[in-house]
Order: sequence, then C-alpha cells, then structure tokens
Amino acid sequence: MNIMKFHNDEDFVQTGASLVASLLQSNPKAVLGLATGSSPIGVYERLVQMYRGGLVSFAKASSYNLDEYVGLPADHPESYRSFMNKHLFSHIDIDLSRTHVPNGSAKDLEAECLAYDQMLENNGPVDLQILGIGSNGHIGFNEPDAGLNSGTHVVDLLQATREANARFFPSIDDVPRQAITMGVGSILKAKQILLLVRGAEKAEAIRNAVQGPITTQCPASLLQTHPNVVVLLDEGAGQWL
Ligand code: GLP
Repeated sequence: MNIMKFHNDEDFVQTGASLVASLLQSNPKAVLGLATGSSPIGVYERLVQMYRGGLVSFAKASSYNLDEYVGLPADHPESYRSFMNKHLFSHIDIDLSRTHVPNGSAKDLEAECLAYDQMLENNGPVDLQILGIGSNGHIGFNEPDAGLNSGTHVVDLLQATREANARFFPSIDDVPRQAITMGVGSILKAKQILLLVRGAEKAEAIRNAVQGPITTQCPASLLQTHPNVVVLLDEGAGQWL
C-alpha cells in the first residue's frame, strides 16, 4: 500500500483529483468506481474545477457507484444517486447513461444485484476505485461480520452505521435499514484503489485496515491483499500511523 499523509487539505484533494485526472488523460474511456460520503467530496470538487479549466474530460468515461440505500427513490435528496448528481455528475461532461448506481428501489432487489454484477463483469474491470471507510472499517456498505459476500448484495445496516449517517436525515428512524452494496470481491477486482480517509474518528479504523490482521471483522483490511492501493489520509485520520 502506498500511504500518504497530508497536513493540508489542498494537497489531499489535489493528489486525489490528479490521480483520477491523469487516468482519464491517458485513458479517456476509463471505468471509474465511485464512492459517496464526506471524504471524497473535496476530490470531486477539484475534478469539477479541472473539468471547467479544460484539464480533464469525462465524456467517454463510465462509472459504477459502490452502494445505494434500499427504499430511497433515486430522486430522494439523500439517495446516493442524488449525492453523485449534486457533487459531480451535474457539473461535468459525463454521459449520464454511462453512470451506474445500484437501484435501491428495485422491486426485485436480488435481480438488481445480479444485474449490477453482470454489468460490472461485461464493462469492467474498474480502472480506478475510489473508496471511503466507515469508522467500523466498512467499505461500501460491507459491514464487519464473520463472513463477507463477494458480489453485489443486500445488506442490513448496523446500528452504528445508521447512527453515523443519521446526521443526513431528520431522525434516526428515517435512516434506511438496508442497502445494496458491491461486495468486497467486486471491489478488489479494480485495477487500482484510491482510499480517501478524513477525520480523527477514522484513525482507529484505518490503522486496523492497514496494520491490523486481515479479517472480515474489518472489511477494509482485505485491501492489504490488493497489489495497487493508494491511501490518502488527513492529519486526524493518520494520527496513529
Ligand atoms: C457510508 C458509505 C461508505 C463511506 C462511509 C464513510 O457509509 N456507504 O461508502 O465510505 O459512509 O463516509 P464518510 O466519508 O462521510 O465518513
């Protein structure tokens, strides 16, 4: 793993955005794996600036998001589809028909998961997978457990995850109880992984992920088995590394 710690935000977002931009410059048809959460927002904002400055184009790229809440319609303000539109897609030249987010409102969720995996299989592998990490070590919505699913699947969200995400909803009762997530196996198929971690509340999770044992109780620790992972940490997240 290539672990980089940054003392200022500017360098953090510039490094993350440059990695994405240089991939698109060398491979305009790149397949991007995208993540939500607060950690990647600065990188998305910088990519929008780069696009506006003519430094990067997404016109031929395609994207696959990691996860989506079950039961929120795509146009719900807290759906991950809305998040992506708001922070990235609406501001760049990507063809929306080539952007993919699991459909959490699908009538048949199992069929939706299978179809998502099939699309990844046909159009992948992902060239660059952006990831965040939950304070319990989850990636996507793959929660710590005795075993992990490889492919896209429906997951019951842990109370800790619902509490962490309650800040975006009127109350904890409004936070969905389930999500669709790409599995750890699908995530590890990406050619390169860019893990973005910000905040002191992530310090323990990221230390376990990169220095702890490889265990399904810390899903992010499975990233240690991948040959090409870049980890960007801010000062808070990197304080124990
Ligand atoms: C959610 C997402 C994860 C994300 C995590 C951390 O649970 N499903 O993919 O990594 O939040 O988010 P943040 O960056 O806001 O801490």
